[in-house]
Amino acid sequence: MIDVLLGLQWGDEGKGKIVDYLAASYNIIARFQGGPNAGHTLYVDGKKVVLRTIPSGVFHSHCLNLIGNGVVIDPVSLQQEIEQLLPLRPDVLQRLFIAHRAHLILPTHRALDAASEASKGEDKIGSTLKGIGPCYMDKTGRNGLRIGDILSKDFRKKYDKLTQKHLQMLRQYDAVPDWEQWEQPFFDACEYLRSLQIINSEYWLDKLLKQGKKVLAEGAQGSMLDIDYGTYPFVTSSNTIAAGVCNGLGVAPSRIGEVYGITKAYCTRVGSGPFPTELDDATGEELRKVGNEFGAVTGRSRRCGWIDLVALKYTVMLSGVTKLIITKADVLDNFNPIKAAVAYIADGTETNELPYDLCDVSITPVYKNFPGWDKPISTCSTFDETPQVFRDYCSFVEQYLETKIAFISNGTGRDQLLTIF
Ligand code: GDP
Ligand code: IMO
Ligand code: MG
Repeated sequence: MIDVLLGLQWGDEGKGKIVDYLAASYNIIARFQGGPNAGHTLYVDGKKVVLRTIPSGVFHSHCLNLIGNGVVIDPVSLQQEIEQLLPLRPDVLQRLFIAHRAHLILPTHRALDAASEASKGEDKIGSTLKGIGPCYMDKTGRNGLRIGDILSKDFRKKYDKLTQKHLQMLRQYDAVPDWEQWEQPFFDACEYLRSLQIINSEYWLDKLLKQGKKVLAEGAQGSMLDIDYGTYPFVTSSNTIAAGVCNGLGVAPSRIGEVYGITKAYCTRVGSGPFPTELDDATGEELRKVGNEFGAVTGRSRRCGWIDLVALKYTVMLSGVTKLIITKADVLDNFNPIKAAVAYIADGTETNELPYDLCDVSITPVYKNFPGWDKPISTCSTFDETPQVFRDYCSFVEQYLETKIAFISNGTGRDQLLTIF
């Protein structure tokens, strides 16, 4: 079976930390979508590492790591990431596999991302500018280059053709950059990637699954950034929900087992777009400070607010979450009261359903208040040690979402995790 772990909010829920913990019980960790827009933070032997394209199982020497076909890969960024890991895990290359069918991010994809964002002015998405949107556009537009193309003798020709197309588009934006300076590093990195284990990953996974190996699919971004079901157009360009695992790894739905859904005990968003429970006040500022809410990739400050159970119920439904994980519970240690949105007033009408377009309606969340905990969660080493008010809060969340909580994370370290079941 293949289990799935994904974010239920707008990303940065702590996926990296939890995958790194769970990886002890899996043989293979596989990324199925997204690319270097992701920033998954792990603390290994007290050292902070941010992973962007490489799966978060890389620190376990028994784990194989697959970058699946649904991922978009920037060769320069991937090479840098590998080189950063080599001193820490010299065997990383033996355990890293890349799908032939994964698409390549070209330097001009990044330029197009920047030009598109600049042209949008105030309506910009707030993209990480890693070339994700333009790369997926070329994939669905049937123009893209894939990792497998690096191995082809026509690679340069294919690259030139696509780059010329991009330059035409960039001329229309009146934003042609000094792109030639990026070519040598790009081709050097492609040459480096040629030496890695590039495989037909759908057959590879099938074989391992038939041998009874355990696979964990690691999501990037979050469900509210899903291209179909997120807060469109303020989303990323891939399917971040559980359905994306089947496309992104070439596995059948019948093979999906547990679906771990992660949410922070509050909520954050980086970039533009609707965020009904956002706190534009001192409490929001305090959440940012205590939660250290600054982007792992871009360093941008994250917008902060209360947990949104209406949105969570929607994303739990979309992915069929079987096990909930709540992270950063310790961040709320000194907040009183603690709030959770349980309904929306959308254009004057109360609802428990997420409106089709959050940009177009005026939304006021209806909150349920919980008393602050009378003892810090950060110091607890079992769930039973946590204060009763916290356990009441957890029961409410479970009932509202009709899903059981499996773990509570109460710190950045791998083992700062309270197991419930
Ligand atoms: P990801 O993209 O979902 O992997 O999450 P990020 O790494 O972008 O952001 C999560 C941040 O929260 C990282 O800095 C983690 O080290 C940190 N973190 C994860 N879990 C906890 C937790 O339970 N408590 C605290 N205080 N920090 C956490
Ligand atoms: P992880 O995996 C948080 C956001 C960007 C922007 C929108 C589109 O670390 O949770 P893109 O670069 O995809 O064109 O950006 O999506 N975004 C993320 N926000 N965490 C992420 O990844 C994100 N990846 C993209 O801020 O609003
Ligand atoms: Mg992140």
